Amino acid sequence: MRAMDYTKLGKTNIKISKIGIGTWQWGSKSWGYGESYFKEDLEKAFRAAVDGGINFFDTAEVYGGGESEKLLGEFSRDLRENIIIASKVLPNHLTYKGVMKAIKNSLARLKTDYIDLYYVHWPNPIIPMSWTARAFNELYESGLIRAIGVSNFGLKRLIKFDELTDGKVSADQVKYSLLKRDAEKRLLKYCLSNDITLVAYSPLDQGAVLGKYNEKELPKDIWRRISIIFTPINMRKITPLIETLHEIAQEKGVKPINIVLRYLIEKGAVPIVGVKKEEHVKDLLKTFDFNLGKNEINKIDLILRDIKLSKVRATLEAIRRIIKP
Ligand SMILES: NC(=O)c1ccc[n+]([C@@H]2O[C@H](COP(=O)([O-])OP(=O)(O)OC[C@H]3O[C@@H](n4cnc5c(N)ncnc54)[C@H](OP(=O)(O)O)[C@@H]3O)[C@@H](O)[C@H]2O)c1
Repeated sequence: MRAMDYTKLGKTNIKISKIGIGTWQWGSKSWGYGESYFKEDLEKAFRAAVDGGINFFDTAEVYGGGESEKLLGEFSRDLRENIIIASKVLPNHLTYKGVMKAIKNSLARLKTDYIDLYYVHWPNPIIPMSWTARAFNELYESGLIRAIGVSNFGLKRLIKFDELTDGKVSADQVKYSLLKRDAEKRLLKYCLSNDITLVAYSPLDQGAVLGKYNEKELPKDIWRRISIIFTPINMRKITPLIETLHEIAQEKGVKPINIVLRYLIEKGAVPIVGVKKEEHVKDLLKTFDFNLGKNEINKIDLILRDIKLSKVRATLEAIRRIIKP
């Protein structure tokens, strides 16, 4: 197995693995925590990630109602210097005082005295960005955070927040996956040429493109029941993509997840994958074991060009799945 690859986080000298671990699912009952996976599974997943060279972990004050930060803090206690913790402040906490209170609580849950990368989780058009930026600048100056990030910020907002923090924004975390490629229009290019890491969330389309689900077998958790992708009509529409990813994976002797992640990494993003168990992590670790050439990338792009996801009918199907799981 080839070792993990690393890159620099934005304008900092912080070294991060080119694949990060997302922890939205950690401690979150709405994802099935305590039913289909447990604390022991997450601890094993964490250890497997660290042993495999992954050092970049993503959490947020909101995940699992704070449980995700607590678990990550507990698992990483003896390794604090070796791992990079990213956390996020909620949009309703973006006043100066709100940010200060939120970080205090996050630090307490994580049982650490600094956060490596602190993000604004979502923009809030009602609270002036300058208030939030003032808090972020102070946190940076005092060493409580080592890098500044934003999440779900489009290009205009990203540029504004970067100006308000004297060019210190080092990451924009947005949804970027095979089925959601809006970031490719302008944001990715801007980030690549301005030393801002584009962190891709939901990079696996929450598992939709991996071939484990189909129009008849759909996941039961609420997050994927409200998604228009996990609907019979759209699962049918993405079948050619699932088949192509399988074909390429077979040729390369890996799994479709590795093809998806390499595709996003080759485009310049750092994907963070939501994991619930050790096996999920073990799969990720094969992502750098093969070469993904232009031909394969073009093949995937060609298939994607022909996929037009349904919105109206899929929304109706999703509503049906919410009422009758
Ligand atoms: N900033 C934001 O607003 C925002 C929003 C969403 C997410 N995020 C972050 O991004 C992270 C990743 O996004 P995400 O969790 O939404 O989606 P994702 O990473 O695309 O998908 C995660 C799901 O894929 C499945 N999976 C993971 N590894 C697998 C493997 N090796 N083989 C097969 N299936 C596998 C798991 O579900 P099953 O096994 O149950 O199928 C898992 O719950 C989150 O954990 C969170 O940290 C941030």
